[in-house]
Amino acid sequence: EPGKTIFSGIQPTGVPHLGNYLGALRQWVKLQDEAGSDDRMLYCVVDLHAVTMPQDPRALIKSTMETYASLIAIGLDPKRSVIFSQQDVLEHTQLMWLLSCHASMGYLGRMTQWKSKSGMADDANPMEASAPNKPALKLGLFSYPVLQAADILLYRTTHVPVGEDQAQHLEFARELANSMNHTYCRATPPSQTPWEGFPLPQTILSPAKRIMSLQDPAKKMSKSDPDPRSRILITDSADVIEKKIRHALTDSIQGVSYDRELRPGVSNLIDIMYYMDESKYTSVEQIVDGMSGANVTMKTMKNQVAKSIVECLAPIRERYFEIMARRPEDVAEEMREGAVVAGRRARSTLDRLKEAMGL
Ligand code: ADP
Ligand code: NA
Repeated sequence: EPGKTIFSGIQPTGVPHLGNYLGALRQWVKLQDEAGSDDRMLYCVVDLHAVTMPQDPRALIKSTMETYASLIAIGLDPKRSVIFSQQDVLEHTQLMWLLSCHASMGYLGRMTQWKSKSGMADDANPMEASAPNKPALKLGLFSYPVLQAADILLYRTTHVPVGEDQAQHLEFARELANSMNHTYCRATPPSQTPWEGFPLPQTILSPAKRIMSLQDPAKKMSKSDPDPRSRILITDSADVIEKKIRHALTDSIQGVSYDRELRPGVSNLIDIMYYMDESKYTSVEQIVDGMSGANVTMKTMKNQVAKSIVECLAPIRERYFEIMARRPEDVAEEMREGAVVAGRRARSTLDRLKEAMGL
């Protein structure tokens, strides 16, 4: 099959923050814009992954819509990329079952995500993970990487853009693909056409862009931080952005200089300014030299940072509110149209595999 198949997923957690955007999502748009005519891109709102943790049903519907609108707003184009919701393509869970029959409990037990999300120790044993004083470890959370492998393999994906935090899960998906290929490519199906197997999906690691909390630059910017001033959402208004940057924690050293160790707050703001429009500058140093040469104060520096964020996010914000102003049924219908296209590809993969398995 010619061309690349690029797949990635995003949890329906609502409007992304600058860390999500610069660290992950902007890469998706870049891949779309650089894609050749033989390449395919599929971007999936992974709502079935979301329910591995407790969710309020109404809030989940709303944040799924917000997530979809955000993907369109940042520049993903439903005419060029297939954008859809996981629950609308039933084959995800079907393939998951088939993969589950090949997934090693021991391998899954060594993964870190179920431990961190269920609040268990790094050396926790899944078989002993239901201590009387703790909520029981749920099967869905434990087997999350199997569903993720199914998401990827279902589309015969060749490339997966992800952050460093997902590299472990990608390795597991390749392991599963290998195991399936090893077992079923040799089997003789009733059609006599041997199964071609899964391509082994390659990781495209997002360029390292760690955006730190505006209130505590020792921590990364995160949606789970209880202080909303610690992050900028890609739909924040100019007023809100200016206020959050003005209140960002910096230091009392005179002037502007870049030092991630000694001046993490200032350096984070300069990084953000650089990342917002990398085409405008040759390097971070260029920004810093310009500011220190002009004896720029902290206040002026913050104004310039806020301005660059506002400029970059303005068109995103505008598109976002255009989409959210549409009738929710129409937006949901547009998502289902993506699922129809994704579903065709998913079905052909699953049909071939099932045939190879004698199902
Ligand atoms: P959060 O920490 O807000 O819960 P997620 O864990 O859902 O974010 O991350 C989704 C994606 O966004 C991941 O691929 C991750 O690498 C990226 N990401 C999240 N926070 C940041 C950040 N502060 N800087 C850079 N990338 C980030
Ligand atoms: Na996280």
